Amino acid sequence: MSIEQVTCLLQEVAEDVAICQRCGLGMTRTLTVPGEGPPDARLMLIGEGPGEQEDRTGRPFVGAAGKLLNQLLLRAGLRRPDVFITNIVKCRPPGNRAPTPDEAAACRPYLETQIALINPRIICLLGRAAAQVVLDAPVSIGRIHGVPHEQDGIIYVPLYHPAAALHQPSLQPVLVEDMERLRSMLQE
Ligand code: SF4
Ligand code: URA
Repeated sequence: MSIEQVTCLLQEVAEDVAICQRCGLGMTRTLTVPGEGPPDARLMLIGEGPGEQEDRTGRPFVGAAGKLLNQLLLRAGLRRPDVFITNIVKCRPPGNRAPTPDEAAACRPYLETQIALINPRIICLLGRAAAQVVLDAPVSIGRIHGVPHEQDGIIYVPLYHPAAALHQPSLQPVLVEDMERLRSMLQE
């Protein structure tokens, strides 16, 4: 598929998301946050769900966690415009609670389509919720962070969520180290 075709199909996903009411989050969101980035990104990042600022702007990771994420990406030799960033749910869970399994399941087809279209080399799963939904298994981020796991030709790398590192600064060096490892994985 050409880059133009992928761009167009990703746009269609965003348009479907914009009017989606497949789960209850559709009732309470302000804007949908479908995700953004290059259609041929080698790295895709998947977070948990939009927060307040994301819900207001329609863009992923624009709040405090997003600022930290941008700094971390530089450690991996990447700039934010190089990566595709999205979430397991495209609408904000009220009060920033974690998405329920039903909400994540309802939204999953959009994520699956995005992954299939972009076909990234590496997918980083930010936080336990994203890792659990995408890997379809209960996980402990404390145990599996930074450990690559290959499945269907894509390398999945679970990481601590940047918001967790804001609440618990001792996690920041761990994230930095994981990001530096990601840099060498991307060069392979
Ligand atoms: Fe639709 Fe996903 Fe929003 Fe639920 S969270 S309404 S499934 S786009
Ligand atoms: N946290 C997330 O998981 N996703 C966002 O888009 C913003 C903050």
